[in-house]
Amino acid sequence: MKTRITELFGIQHPIMCGGMMWLAKPELCAAISNAGGLGNLTAGNYESGSDLGKAIDKTRQLTNKPFCVNVTFMPSVRITKALHEEYFQVCCEQKVAAIEVSGAPLDKYLGPDSVRQANEAGVKLIHKLGSVKHARHAAEVGYDAVIAAGFEEGGHPLDDDVTTMILTPRICESVNVPVISAGGMVDGRSMAAAMVLGAEGIMMASRFIATTECLAHPRIKEELVRRQENDTTLICKTIDLQMRALRNELVSNVLEVEARHGSIEEIIPLMSGERSQKAWENGDVDGAPLAVGQSIGLIKEIVSCRELLDTIVREAEETLANVQRRLQGAVS
Ligand SMILES: Cc1cc2nc3c(=O)[nH]c(=O)nc-3n(C[C@H](O)[C@H](O)[C@H](O)COP(=O)(O)O)c2cc1C
Repeated sequence: MKTRITELFGIQHPIMCGGMMWLAKPELCAAISNAGGLGNLTAGNYESGSDLGKAIDKTRQLTNKPFCVNVTFMPSVRITKALHEEYFQVCCEQKVAAIEVSGAPLDKYLGPDSVRQANEAGVKLIHKLGSVKHARHAAEVGYDAVIAAGFEEGGHPLDDDVTTMILTPRICESVNVPVISAGGMVDGRSMAAAMVLGAEGIMMASRFIATTECLAHPRIKEELVRRQENDTTLICKTIDLQMRALRNELVSNVLEVEARHGSIEEIIPLMSGERSQKAWENGDVDGAPLAVGQSIGLIKEIVSCRELLDTIVREAEETLANVQRRLQGAVS
């Protein structure tokens, strides 16, 4: 499959990994890039620009293929604006293939010069967003591509609550830059559907957790295979930080606090990054909010990244051909 996305990044398959706090680290990132996709290193995993720089070096020891760095501009106690600035400078200095920006637009958060700086460094800019308005802005200020991230996605879907099915074609018809579809992308069928809706690539995150190279604890990977599409829910709507996470004990506690209009001070300790980091590592499925999307309903096995990407592309091509055959059969 050749699209503007494969051309833009010089990759084999138009499949990229989304930022994943605590999980998108060098091993997984390199495995995805080595398998022909665009791996993702998530800056927020690192306490300083120099630690991120070391992680970029480590990834480059594991792959000579392009990968991107996710920089999430969201309110955080741990990740200050100064640290965001450091992450951005390191990405430019190290000339990573691309930055996946999320949360707020780079030009508004770090200033318009940052877009020029990335362009001059040869770093492509991809903005993950959830509305046509934001996509138009990104295209106008010079982003190279946008990611249409629908409501199904794990993590923090925009509170417009628009599904991938609607958001992808709306954004495709509204901007000239290539569009990557995200939220519910998990197999060849969803990839084929995204292409039919006008996307030129897909982004997956939840699906990459259940791969052999992801460092999440095996118990959580197995849990994702076991769970279904109705096993996620939205939390933290009441504090304007909506998150889609796996239904578990901790998430029930958060929902209970929210239902009785508990204070933000009660919610924040339940949502601490430290809690999630530990749970992904020690496999405590109930101990933290675990960001995952509705796509878990379609995760059936734990496989290597190479097997996953090869299968998805093959299935997508077969699906597109089968649909055509089916429709022709129905007509004749
Ligand atoms: C475990 C996990 C952590 C995530 N962390 C981030 C993050 O730090 N920054 C970000 O922009 N998106 C984050 N996301 C969202 C993903 O990058 C992506 O947009 C979304 O998961 C795609 O939908 P899917 O879950 O259906 O694949 C995270 C998702 C998951 C599953």
